Amino acid sequence: MKNLSERDQKHLWHPLTQHQTAAPRLGIVKAKGALIWDEAGNSYIDGIASWYTSMYGHCNPFITEAISKQMKGLDFVMFSGFTHEPAIELSERLVEILPDNQEKIFFNDNGSTAIEAGIKMALQYHHNKGEKRDTLIAFEEGFHGDTFGAMSASGLSSYNGPFEDFLLKVERIPVPRESTIDEVLEKLETILENNSCAAFVFEPLVQGAAGMKFHSAKGLDALIQKCQENGVIAIADEIMTGFGKTGKNFASDHLQRKPDIICLSKALTAGMFPLSITSCTQKVFDAFLSEEVAKGFFHAHTFSAHPIGCAAALAGIELLNSKEIVERRSYIENAHGYFASQIKSHQKVKEVRSMGVILAIDLDIETDRYGTLRDKLYHFFMDQGVNLRPLGNTIYVLPPYVITNEQLKKIYNVIKSSLEIV
Ligand SMILES: Cc1ncc(COP(=O)(O)O)c(C=O)c1O
Repeated sequence: MKNLSERDQKHLWHPLTQHQTAAPRLGIVKAKGALIWDEAGNSYIDGIASWYTSMYGHCNPFITEAISKQMKGLDFVMFSGFTHEPAIELSERLVEILPDNQEKIFFNDNGSTAIEAGIKMALQYHHNKGEKRDTLIAFEEGFHGDTFGAMSASGLSSYNGPFEDFLLKVERIPVPRESTIDEVLEKLETILENNSCAAFVFEPLVQGAAGMKFHSAKGLDALIQKCQENGVIAIADEIMTGFGKTGKNFASDHLQRKPDIICLSKALTAGMFPLSITSCTQKVFDAFLSEEVAKGFFHAHTFSAHPIGCAAALAGIELLNSKEIVERRSYIENAHGYFASQIKSHQKVKEVRSMGVILAIDLDIETDRYGTLRDKLYHFFMDQGVNLRPLGNTIYVLPPYVITNEQLKKIYNVIKSSLEIV
């Protein structure tokens, strides 16, 4: 009998993989808390919570119990013409914890489709008001997903290459740093004067796929304000940052100026179920009300508001601000800060930054995104029993909140040792 890794190669096509050169995939058979196990019985600490989803730990019994209960009562029903308790309760809970101006919740089934819905809402918002606005504003090096609208807003060319000619019209600005706010604002003003801008799509405060790069909250506030003064809809992509990663429930909570639309996925369901939401203000929603049917938002996914996903999300939100998780979040934040201060002067380290439970270390080594450095580090970490996926020359840690002190210490030690092999 072949093992999982061998059987995988016959019929499977993996994401983000060049199958001609990539090593075989590791067969994973079990996960619990911050650990995952391969089919040979080796365990790995999931140092990035499986793309920042499983924040309350894998197979968290509180969440599996909620899902199991939901499955036995109402498994699934279409969300057009029908509604149900898990979706209603989730909308109530989300509106309670989201920034104050968010009023309506639209359901999708993954991060990209949450962004897609947000962009379409913004375009139709203007259309319904009788204006044709055709341009998006987005940050250089942003990442928003792989469907066409989301890809258009994304500025990472390594993903977009073959599709560049088929994308929506986008104008890009650099992210604002404390020292460049005026410069970026000027660039935005020029774009606003010369284009008919519909929406500004951005990852607030942290650009994940770009390498956990941070920017200025004050600068982002100024950009959102300028956009909103010009009738441009501000769309915050909180798919990575949402649910406590930056130290507050949402990165938008660090801002004075609140986005018009917010997109959430990933930790929304604690990694247990594909689900996403696009929330918006009453003002955005009201632009779709009309006696004309076609002014409604004719956009749907079969699995919208899947009751099982909603049940997982409700359980996750209950945990997010529970005493235990709040303590763990604060422990991780302090531990990251201490580790950052220890390694920041290492000769191979160019910059260390941390915010909430996110820690990023840029190495002082030139490399491209998928260069040999990334592979060398990745395999070194896995050989030591830690799942970390460097982005170019950036090593980042974004652990599940339930990671133990010893497991976190092991991650730091393995990173320290990795600096000796690069
Ligand atoms: C900030 C951000 N936006 C959007 C996405 C796309 O989400 P999905 O992979 O669920 O389509 C991601 C995924 O990594 C992301 O990090």
